[in-house]
Amino acid sequence: MERADGLAAISEEPARLTRRFATAALKLATNTVAGWMRAAGMQVRHDNVGNLVGRYEGAHGATKTLLLGSHLDSVRDAGKYDGPLGVLVALACVERLNARELRLPFAIEVFAFADEEGLRYHTAYLGSNVVAGSFDPTYLSLVDADGIALADAIRAFGGDPAALTQDARRPDDVLGYCEVHIEQGPVLEALDLPVGIVTAIAGQSRLEVTWQGQAGHAGTVPMHLRRDALCAAAEFMLSVEQLAEERAGLVATVGQIAAEPGASNVIPGRVTLSLDVRHQDDALREQALEALHDQAFKIATRRHVVVQWQTVQESRSVLCSPWLIEQLERAIEHVGYAVHHLPSGAGHDAVVMAGLTDVAMLFVRCKAGVSHHPAESVMLEDVAAAIAVLESFLASFASDGPTL
Ligand code: GLV
Ligand code: MN
Ligand code: MN
Repeated sequence: MERADGLAAISEEPARLTRRFATAALKLATNTVAGWMRAAGMQVRHDNVGNLVGRYEGAHGATKTLLLGSHLDSVRDAGKYDGPLGVLVALACVERLNARELRLPFAIEVFAFADEEGLRYHTAYLGSNVVAGSFDPTYLSLVDADGIALADAIRAFGGDPAALTQDARRPDDVLGYCEVHIEQGPVLEALDLPVGIVTAIAGQSRLEVTWQGQAGHAGTVPMHLRRDALCAAAEFMLSVEQLAEERAGLVATVGQIAAEPGASNVIPGRVTLSLDVRHQDDALREQALEALHDQAFKIATRRHVVVQWQTVQESRSVLCSPWLIEQLERAIEHVGYAVHHLPSGAGHDAVVMAGLTDVAMLFVRCKAGVSHHPAESVMLEDVAAAIAVLESFLASFASDGPTL
């Protein structure tokens, strides 16, 4: 918990926690965790995209590696636990193994991914995509709000954008990936359980929708002659909310909006907004996107503005692996808690790691279900429970896991 507090103080902004990809704050957080990893007997390396990897060797003759971890980047004005908790719980387990001078029949690598939230480039999972071998090289020319290209940000962080493919893990070398994460929802709290096992992770689409109207004088252009891009965007935003309310299981969010030129006495000429659409069922997510696309173009036609619809990123829903779920069930029973399964509405590095290997996730109870917010909170006892469960998971894995 002290480590989580320490990491939360490492921010780009003085009064709140914001840690974007490839920033000085991320570098400091990464180096801080690297120090803890070394002290826990791990060999530490940084890959080209800026992921930190701590490796704890297995017993003599071990050939395969189990991957653990989560991310160190954050959203804007974030909480302390979304991401760091998964890194720190994995680190605590390795620390205990090291203290007991125990080697398992496989190596462990703890990943602290450099970008899961996508705050800087609006694309999630830059870190895990490199490890899973699914990094899309066209991302390298994306630019951030300051006009800095992703390739340049990677260079400034110490990596070589041309060498990203070398950091992909080979599926044959890894046993699986297990991520501990704060639940970010209210389910475990309502059930009075410290931990739960994730069954599946919802699919997600991230889009950018741009509205081009006509800027003009707020005092002279009559209402019926306006082509107000912000009013068109506003109408669309309310239709997003309405559609999501009408369709079971669908969540849709406009979280970012920019109006140009941006003055109180100027009619907005251009608006860019983000759109985030999620559903456990990929077909229903795709149907919702079609309906929203039609809606946007209808609004644009009626209001004589031009709309541009751009998909930034899409991830399909992911099923956690049944055999890893079983290992987690046994671990939870061993530690003495009731086993509960739940789906994840939030995206996680496990989504991308599922393209490389079998994945599992352990959720930790979250106060009032609040996350992506500074009030995010977990209890000391629940973190202790998560460490005990992950430790037991590693032990059972070592004794009766797959043939290694
Ligand atoms: C990550 O936190 C996401 O679900 O957007
Ligand atoms: Mn998050
Ligand atoms: Mn997260």
